Amino acid sequence: MGISIEKATTTRYNSIDWNNLGFGRFFSDHMFISRFENGHWDEGKIIPYGPICFEPSMMTLHYGQTIFEGLKAYFDVNGGVNLFRPDMNAKRMNKSADRLCIPRFNEEKFVEAIIELVKLDHKFVPKVYGQSLYIRPVCFGSSCVLGVHPASEYTFIIITSPVASYYPEGLNPVKILIEDQFVRAVRGGLGDSKTAANYAASLYAGQKAKEMGFSQVLWLDGIQHEFVDEVGAMNIMFVIDDVLITPPLYQGSILPGVTRDSVLCLAKEFGIKVQERSIKIQEVIQAYEKGTLQEVFGTGTAATISPVGVLYYHGKEMIINNNQIGPVAQKMYDTLTDIQYGKIKDIYNWIVHIDI
Ligand code: COI
Repeated sequence: MGISIEKATTTRYNSIDWNNLGFGRFFSDHMFISRFENGHWDEGKIIPYGPICFEPSMMTLHYGQTIFEGLKAYFDVNGGVNLFRPDMNAKRMNKSADRLCIPRFNEEKFVEAIIELVKLDHKFVPKVYGQSLYIRPVCFGSSCVLGVHPASEYTFIIITSPVASYYPEGLNPVKILIEDQFVRAVRGGLGDSKTAANYAASLYAGQKAKEMGFSQVLWLDGIQHEFVDEVGAMNIMFVIDDVLITPPLYQGSILPGVTRDSVLCLAKEFGIKVQERSIKIQEVIQAYEKGTLQEVFGTGTAATISPVGVLYYHGKEMIINNNQIGPVAQKMYDTLTDIQYGKIKDIYNWIVHIDI
């Protein structure tokens, strides 16, 4: 049995401010929903986007047993729509599911549900370069009972949202505060799972940074506050002495980003020397002082490639590459977007094309 579809009787299309999309403010007409009960996931169905009803005792509200994903559908310049590496999101969601004691969701079904949803709501995929239909799968424990233990019932929902850039700066460099007091994740914690707790942990420091005029914070390791972790909404990369350096995943405190993986793959293809290794914030500062810190940029599905123009640490402001996007970030942005919008051939098999 396939995914059943109940079509919306009205459309949200005209209520969308297409000239001012921002990020995550508008939603398309339909959503996918599947429930896990009595030990298995149901077939799932596509229904009109709208409120869902839960009792106040619903476990996730209390204990945060919830995971999510983020990927995008892009208009293809040759017609149709492209998804970018949705299999990676399916796999990562199941990795998060294992860590949060949530039952795994079939990975082929995950991709199939997204394809069906995007086909049905394809008019919500913006036809503007740099814009896309953001796809947000979310899965949470939905048993209505109190007590700290894994839920016995779960709900998996996929919603979609036409978006422009995540940061108002777009491809212009952002200002980042290096956070040395609060922490996002520690080794052995939840840092490499895409779960709400990591984002909740980031809010206080993020808000403080905003009040000081920064877009986000760069998190350091949760124990010594010495090694660079990630930015929360994106992974971080440095170009020092022509080497692309990014923190490794093995310590478990960094989200394994799909864009991160794609950039590392492209960098190797372009002959750029790549090092996935621990990097101390002091090494970044010393490189800045020596003049060898050439570029800093973030990578993420929502953020795409986001150049960092200013890093701020202990009262010291480091202006990176004259506050301009650097050549490596620009090449990564151009190549990734050209693949995503079908402008150049996808030699990596990253694109899942949807004929409309
Ligand atoms: C994404 O990049 O898709 C994310 O989920 C990050 C989030 C802060 C929007």
